[in-house]
Amino acid sequence: MNIIFLGPPGAGKGTQAQRICAALGIPQISTGDMLRRAIADQTPTGLKAKSYMDAGGLVPDEVIIDIVKERLQADDCAKGYILDGFPRTVPQAEALEGIAHIDKVVELDVPDEKLIERISGRRVCLKCGATYHVSMLNGQTTCGQCGETLIQRDDDKPETVLNRLNAYHSKTAPLVDFYQGKGKLAKVDGTGDVDAIFDAIMKVLKA
Ligand code: AP5
Ligand code: MG
Repeated sequence: MNIIFLGPPGAGKGTQAQRICAALGIPQISTGDMLRRAIADQTPTGLKAKSYMDAGGLVPDEVIIDIVKERLQADDCAKGYILDGFPRTVPQAEALEGIAHIDKVVELDVPDEKLIERISGRRVCLKCGATYHVSMLNGQTTCGQCGETLIQRDDDKPETVLNRLNAYHSKTAPLVDFYQGKGKLAKVDGTGDVDAIFDAIMKVLKA
């Protein structure tokens, strides 16, 4: 099953994609994680993307479309995948139509005020992609999955978060109508308990 997770920054796309991917045995394709790795490795793509990400804006469509096109050709995508953070603009969604068949689009719905609280307390593992919130870490500073030191993302500063939210509302939110028009959209309440949200997503994927 080929799935898209749609939702604003901090909605829980990464948190839920990791869990659903583990349950279904399919890969999580997070364009944000791929770009952060490219920046850490100082690849040409990383160098191109850095200034846009630091400012909380979107990386140009042509850069991101090429990355996703290449990634979807890998063998592990044959059984399905979750696209986490792609597409994010109508041109990206249109390009995806030409390279993949999408079965379901899950929109995680969370109000803006909750997003800010979640993002400001987020800690991530750059090595394995695991995501935590300070409220659940009890002072722990290393990843529970791989032992790497956890970090705060550069773009999780308050001023950058507001730019990311604006980018979501102006450029990504139109994709809700785009996929609703194709009969593929399932809206899931992204507030509340992580396990309950997981169950709600599994339910819409099985429907
Ligand atoms: P990306 O990394 O995709 O960031 P994002 O979309 O802003 O989303 P986040 O990763 O911030 O949030 P999330 O929904 O994954 O939430 P999470 O699970 O971490 O992109 C970063 C940048 O890369 C973009 O700004 C852009 O520049 C660039 N980029 C990437 N893709 C692109 C594209 N296609 N086109 C152009 N540019 C692109 O959860 C957040 C926090 O909340 C965590 O602390 C978590 O523990 C906590 N949490 C999760 N669920 C719950 C819950 N139910 N209750 C309480 N807390 C919770
Ligand atoms: Mg994420």
